[in-house]
Amino acid sequence: MQKYFYLILILTLPSYLWADEFPQITNVYNRQSVSLNGKWKYLIDQAEIGNRRKFWQDKEISNRSELLEYNFETAAQMNVPGDWNSQKNELQYYEGKVWYQKSFPFIKKPGKRYFLYFGAANYHTEVFMNGEKLGEHRGGFTPFNFEITTLINEQNSIVVSVDNTRKKEQVPTIISDWKNFGGLTRDVMIIEEINAFIQDYTLQLKKGSSDELDFTVWVNDNNHVSDNQVTIHIPELNIKEIISVDSSGKATRTIKSENISRWSPQNPQLYKTSFSLENNTLHDEIGFRNIEVEGKDILLNGKSIFLKGISLHEESPFTHGRTHSREEAQMMIDWVKELGCNYLRLSHYPHNEHIVRLAEKEGIMLWEEIPVYWDIEWDNPQTYQYAKQMLNDVIIRDKNRAAVIIWSMANETDISESRNTFLKKLIDFTRSKDDTRLISAALFVHGDGKSRFSRVVDDPFGKNADVISVNQYIGWYGSALPDVIKELEMTIQFDKPFIFSEFGAGALGGFHADSLTRWSEEYQEWYYKETLKMCDRIDQLRGLSPWILTDFQSPRRMLPVYQDGFNRKGLISSEGKKKKAFFVLQEYYNQK
Ligand code: GCU
Repeated sequence: MQKYFYLILILTLPSYLWADEFPQITNVYNRQSVSLNGKWKYLIDQAEIGNRRKFWQDKEISNRSELLEYNFETAAQMNVPGDWNSQKNELQYYEGKVWYQKSFPFIKKPGKRYFLYFGAANYHTEVFMNGEKLGEHRGGFTPFNFEITTLINEQNSIVVSVDNTRKKEQVPTIISDWKNFGGLTRDVMIIEEINAFIQDYTLQLKKGSSDELDFTVWVNDNNHVSDNQVTIHIPELNIKEIISVDSSGKATRTIKSENISRWSPQNPQLYKTSFSLENNTLHDEIGFRNIEVEGKDILLNGKSIFLKGISLHEESPFTHGRTHSREEAQMMIDWVKELGCNYLRLSHYPHNEHIVRLAEKEGIMLWEEIPVYWDIEWDNPQTYQYAKQMLNDVIIRDKNRAAVIIWSMANETDISESRNTFLKKLIDFTRSKDDTRLISAALFVHGDGKSRFSRVVDDPFGKNADVISVNQYIGWYGSALPDVIKELEMTIQFDKPFIFSEFGAGALGGFHADSLTRWSEEYQEWYYKETLKMCDRIDQLRGLSPWILTDFQSPRRMLPVYQDGFNRKGLISSEGKKKKAFFVLQEYYNQK
C-alpha cells in the first residue's frame, strides 16, 4: 500500500517540477549572474556509497584519528560544463554516479534573491549546498534551477551527484544509437534577481496574425505584491506598454503593431526588446514570424517553403564530447550554412540554448525534439511524466525563439495502442502550451507487401500531426544498393506536408574506393545522388534533414576499422573533414 501511496503522491505533483525545483527562469544569459563554470572536484561513486557516507556534507577531517572515506579537498578535477567521458580516460565508457564539488566565495547583496541554475546535467542529478539538499532533477537535456537566497554565504560548497545510469522507465530508455555522455554537461551559474522579478514571458505573433503580438509575463514575487507593473519596450516598433500583473504574478496582453518585419532565413530580423519591473530591466532579442501548414505546404509568413536541412547530434568531432559553448555552436552553424541549409534538426533531444539562439540570428529554422526514442515504456505513467517534463521545459526555454518551427514528439516508435495514446497526450499537451508551432515526429515507413521498392506512410500519428516526417534508409540498411532508390515509390496516406527527417549512409572519412564499396566516400556520394533524385520525384516533399552533419559516437557501432565506436553517416568525419557527399548535398541545396 505504501508503495502506491508514494506513486500517487508523485503523480499528483505538478508534473514539470521535481522536488523543490524552482520554476524555470528563462533568458538566463541576459540576467545578472555569476558563472560557476570551470574546474570542479569529482569523486567516482560506482558503489553508490556517497549518500550513505554523506558526501554532500563535504566534511573536512577534524583530527588525525578521524575516519572519513571521502575528501573533495584532495580529489581530482574536471571541467564544467563538460561530459566526464571525453575528459577522463577512466570515465570513457563510465555509466553510474559521479559526485562533483565546488567551493566558492560570494558577496551577497541585501534585498537580492539568488538562484542556482544548471543548463542541463545527464541524467539524475541531486544538488546540495552548504550541507543542505536543494533538490533533484531527472532528465539530461533541459535546464533546472533552485532558489538559494537563504543558503548562500560568504564561503560556499556545492556538492552535486550526477548519475547517468540508463533505466528502462526513463526517457530515453536503455537503448539508443548515441553515446550516453554523463555529467554537468552545460553552463552552471548563480542568477541574481530583485525581490519581485520577471521569471518568464512569452512574446510571439498571435497564431494566424501578422500584426498582433501575444504577450504574457510571469512575475515571481516573494512578497506577493499584487499590482507589480511590467513595462514592455520595443523601440524599433514604437511599442512601450505598462501592464499590471494579477495576484498570481501573471498578466497577458495582445499588442497591435502594423509594421513588423517578419523573421525568415532571408531576413532573420530580431527586435531588441526590454521588460522592466521596478528598477530592473531584462533585455532580449526576439523575432516574429508565422509558421503554419496549408494542404501539402509549409507556409512561413504566408509563403510556401522547402526545408533544406541536416540532422545534428550535440557532439563535437574535435573533442568527441558534448558541445556546450557558443564557439562550438558557431562551428556547427557555419557548417550548416556552408551546406546551403535553411533548417536544422536538433536530434534526438533538446540541445543547448547557444545553438538555438545562434540559429535564430543566422536565419536557420529549427526542429526540436525530446528523446522519446524507439520503444520506451508507453504504459508507465512515470515515463509519461518524464517525457512531459522535458517537453514542457524545452517549450518554456525556447518558446520565444522564432527559429523554432517544429516540436517533435518522438523518433522511430513502433505503432501500438499505448504508444498512440502516449503520443496523442503529448501532442495535446504541446498544443496547450504553444499553439503557434507545428507538431511532428520521425516515423517509420513500411513496405506494401507487393513491391520491394514501395514504401507506405500511414502511421496513425499522422492524423494529429501538422507535418509528416519519415526516416528511410533504403540503399543502406538491407541488401539493396543505392541504384534501387530510383525505383522507390512512396505512398503517403496524408494530405499534409511531407519531409524526410532522416536518410543516410555510412562512410569512413578518407577511405576511397569504387562506389560499390561499403564505407567508402564514393558509396555515400552515390547514395546521396540517388536519394536526392528520388526526392525530386515526390511532389509532396517539403523538406529534408539527412542523417547527419558529423560522425558521432555510439555504443552500437563497433565494426573495427570502419566504425570503431562511431556512427559514420556524417557528411563531416570524426576529424572534422568534409566527405564527398557533403558537396553533393551542398550542390543540391544551392540549386534548390
Ligand atoms: C535511426 C535513428 C538514428 C540512428 C540512425 C542510424 O534512424 O533515428 O538515431 O543513428 O537511424 O541508423 O544511423
